[in-house]
Amino acid sequence: MTISTTPAGQYINIPKHIAIIMDGNGRWAQAQGKSRVTGHKAGVDSVRAVVRGARKAGVEALTLFAFSSENWQRPEQEVSVLMDLFMYVLTKEVKRLHKNNIRFQVVGDLSRFSAKLQKNIAKSEQLTADNTGLVLSIAANYGGRWDIANAAKKLALQVKNAEISPDDIDEVSLHEHTCLAQLPPLDLLIRTGGDFRISNFLLWQAAYAEFYFTEILWPDFNEVEFEQAISTFDQRERRFGKTGEQVK
Ligand code: IPE
Ligand code: IPE
Ligand code: MG
Repeated sequence: MTISTTPAGQYINIPKHIAIIMDGNGRWAQAQGKSRVTGHKAGVDSVRAVVRGARKAGVEALTLFAFSSENWQRPEQEVSVLMDLFMYVLTKEVKRLHKNNIRFQVVGDLSRFSAKLQKNIAKSEQLTADNTGLVLSIAANYGGRWDIANAAKKLALQVKNAEISPDDIDEVSLHEHTCLAQLPPLDLLIRTGGDFRISNFLLWQAAYAEFYFTEILWPDFNEVEFEQAISTFDQRERRFGKTGEQVK
């Protein structure tokens, strides 16, 4: 955590790394008698809003859950629209991210995406690789269990190649092979849409994150709501296993 001043001038603890489960697009659209896809499209504005909010607040890393490894089970048409939307947003928004010194990356098992989408992702990552501002990670075909299993597989390969011994496997070395290992620890995990679950998101990384759940559906989430989450975080006492007296 870093100490920073808000525009209002109060001191608050700014989370260095925030992740968001952007949920509620479908219900938002259905409540207006529109197709679920309309909700996904509207959700892009909320993404822009939180990126802006994160930069303003001085957050170092923002990680957004865009598509889970389980979301392939949705109707084919919805999955296909989500892929098109992803492609469209990449093509349209990355230049602006670059202009704002944002480093962009996609985390997850990208092998299941089309070659065209994979190429577009790689191009966007390369373009922004040397940027020094906010790190924006999009989790796509991401699953927390996959992430941990994948890290275990990498360690197993190193053992097989005699680069390390089984005794070298510990929390630190496993962590190094998980997604986002190069970023500050996850401080705050937000979920919109009113459900109280993690849906296989950052299982490993959320070990000591603060959780913030809101009823607001993702397309209605904006900079003000984002600030509200940060301000709630500021009120929390993080004890990391110690007593309240120890951390005061
Ligand atoms: C989150 O919104 C976006 C994705 C999972 C891609 P949903 O599509 O899950 O919206 P609800 O939860 O059905 O309202
Ligand atoms: C989690 O939302 C995944 C994303 C926001 C991308 P879901 O809507 O898929 O989660 P469940 O199915 O309600 O747990
Ligand atoms: Mg949902």
